[in-house]
Amino acid sequence: MGLTDIETLHLEEFAETLLRCNHLYHPSDDSIALRNAVESRRQIEIFDYSRFADAFTRAFGMRNSLKCLQALTHLRGTIHTYRSVCDLGCGSGAFSLAFAYLADNPELDLCGLDTSEHQLSLARELMAAARLPGRFRFERKDLPTQIGDRPDLTISSFWFCENEQAIANPALFDLMVGRELLVVDYEKIIDRIATSLPKGFRILARHSTQVDVPTTLTDFVAQERASVYSIHIGRTDA
Ligand SMILES: C[S@@+](CC[C@H](N)C(=O)[O-])C[C@H]1O[C@@H](n2cnc3c(N)ncnc32)[C@H](O)[C@@H]1O
Repeated sequence: MGLTDIETLHLEEFAETLLRCNHLYHPSDDSIALRNAVESRRQIEIFDYSRFADAFTRAFGMRNSLKCLQALTHLRGTIHTYRSVCDLGCGSGAFSLAFAYLADNPELDLCGLDTSEHQLSLARELMAAARLPGRFRFERKDLPTQIGDRPDLTISSFWFCENEQAIANPALFDLMVGRELLVVDYEKIIDRIATSLPKGFRILARHSTQVDVPTTLTDFVAQERASVYSIHIGRTDA
């Protein structure tokens, strides 16, 4: 079986996991209005998550999770080797869900951090509904800050675009990155991370791809295909 077949298989199966959580993802009037507003502006958006957490999740949660899954397929067989994982700006758990699904690892210890209590409560609800193996915690933190023991892998989707100071400042970047870092974000942000990489870090891989939205999810995602930009960073001393 070729890589594309494996990716398609993962996407179809992952769609079933997402559909187990459909009560969190079902479009609402607010989420449709939010998506239309964002699409008409075509710029990097910073949302007010205390007001829009629910609408954001319904508008973009599934799409973001599919993008993260697509980025994670590039880790291939090594995804099982990461035991401690930290999801920066986890929001309602898009990246955490994709990671836990693909890792399928009962030893996984995943901690999601976010400043919004509302987003964190959605993430807890999502992971409970998904019933994936591993231990999951979702904690309130204003980032960037010290995050405890360095995780094997830091994952982050659409958090750096709202916190570009963590790209520009090497001390803050160092604080946020585990032994490795995998970021999914806008192309411009991935470019910025690649060109601002401080001493002590190196690019392990970088990808620009597309994800085909499984037909079972088109009512939720409202597009057939989405672009995915990702970068995988390692430490030179690791
Ligand atoms: C665009 S959302 C992305 C959420 C999720 N990762 C996804 O891909 O759907 C950005 C998230 O980062 C959180 N966030 C933004 N700035 C933050 C900060 N300085 N500290 C902690 N969380 C932050 C927001 O509350 C929000 O949940």
